[in-house]
Amino acid sequence: MASIYIETFGCQMNEADSQYIADRAAASGYAVTGDAAQASVVVINTCTVRDNAEKRAYGRMAHFKALKAADPRIKLVVCGCLAEQDRDRMQGKAPYVDAVFGTRDLARLGDALVAWRSGFDDDDEDLTEQRLLVDPLGGRGDCVGDAYAHVRAFVNVQRGCSYYCTYCIVPYVRGRFDNRPAGDILAECRRAIERGAREITLVGQTVNAYREPASGTDFADLLAAVAALDGLDRLTFLTSHPKDYTAKLAASMSALPALNPRFHLPVQSGSDPILRRMNRKYTVAQYREKIALFREMCPDWALTTDLIVAFPGETEHDFEATLALCDEMRFAQAFMFVYSPRRGTPAAHWEQIAPEIGNERLRRLAAVVDRNVRAWHERKRGSVVRALVQGPSRKDRTKIAAKTIDNVTIIAPLGSLAEAHLQAKPWIDVRVDEAFTWGCAGEILGVAERYAAAREPVDARPTIDLVAALR
Ligand code: SAH
Ligand code: SF4
Ligand code: F3S
Repeated sequence: MASIYIETFGCQMNEADSQYIADRAAASGYAVTGDAAQASVVVINTCTVRDNAEKRAYGRMAHFKALKAADPRIKLVVCGCLAEQDRDRMQGKAPYVDAVFGTRDLARLGDALVAWRSGFDDDDEDLTEQRLLVDPLGGRGDCVGDAYAHVRAFVNVQRGCSYYCTYCIVPYVRGRFDNRPAGDILAECRRAIERGAREITLVGQTVNAYREPASGTDFADLLAAVAALDGLDRLTFLTSHPKDYTAKLAASMSALPALNPRFHLPVQSGSDPILRRMNRKYTVAQYREKIALFREMCPDWALTTDLIVAFPGETEHDFEATLALCDEMRFAQAFMFVYSPRRGTPAAHWEQIAPEIGNERLRRLAAVVDRNVRAWHERKRGSVVRALVQGPSRKDRTKIAAKTIDNVTIIAPLGSLAEAHLQAKPWIDVRVDEAFTWGCAGEILGVAERYAAAREPVDARPTIDLVAALR
């Protein structure tokens, strides 16, 4: 049977687009596979937000070149933000790529899948040995075909961004803001729930700026409408912009029990001159005020952020202000980046800071951030947390990885618990025994089909312990 393998890099926008591609493919008779060696069509959904994302995407193309060499019938397709940015030169750099679709061409990609479908023979199961030899792992991105992908749904509420932060490529590769009609968003959320989604993430670059002009529906209204859907387990959203965090939204967030207790509000820098040159549209004092409101309305929620170091013109003094703000805010998690110049953005033309200084600042910042992250995880030690399964741990496949509703990674041995069981009952209750910077580890006490359902106890002690106990 014709099958499609989709690898996703970058942010939640790409996750949502990959889901769209998978749906279109499934509707036109493809099986969605998690194994590239089985696929008739390989799709790489790319990101270009930083230079390393761009390098990685070209690296993955080169990786799949081997697959095509082994079986030339395979179609290698590249889409997403790098495809948009490099649409005219990508096939020059990577001639083995069959087709390139920019971020505005997703529907055309869907049409191409339909057109190609008849070319793939249905009884053509003869996978050559060479194909199977190509390692599908190793630096790969998230994959739509993964066994637990259905439990999380990413629903687009807006496309593009019109804020034009001076470092950022997104408005150029994704276009300006385009808010989806609220009715379409709700319909897609309903479909996701019917297909078994336990967590819906409303996604956009600045979701909280959402507004449906005709009805005046804003993001707080939208959240309330989605939270009221029958059968919804958990709801969350990414990403918010500080400028659009209002008292109305704060009140709405605290009033909706279905919302996951986590809030991602990128601050980028703790220094006003830098924020101004980044065109972030808020000051440090305004960010502080918003967080004070948030802490008052949503006590005990996880607050997370994004930070950029070594932005052009960042002095040691500016950087120390960022360090101090991080200590003050006690972020439960922070994604930290060294500034990476992007072609065509204003800041790429300004005088740059040496990479050694950027790397050194990143290390110092990580030390401060990690201390608070670790403390957030330590608080869970000794308690039992409910978490949504993600899949086998990448490091040790006898363990399962899950995420708590405040987005902390939990690892626990699977023991005798079958994975098929977890696909139907993807919530696990874990007693947290250890806390680390990356997350927590513990033992599975039970599973549940729904977030609000009572725990069904299971014995997931590692089998090795049982053997020892018998001696
Ligand atoms: N729309 C979101 C985030 C978009 S990109 C927002 O406004 O917050 C995700 C993160 O990547 C950003 O928050 C920023 O921290 C980082 N980022 C974006 N462009 C970058 C660049 N050129 N160099 C380094 N980090 C960058
Ligand atoms: Fe990029 Fe700024 Fe838009 Fe976020 S708000 S996507 S950082 S331009
Ligand atoms: Fe990357 Fe595009 Fe998202 S550049 S961060 S995948 S919008």
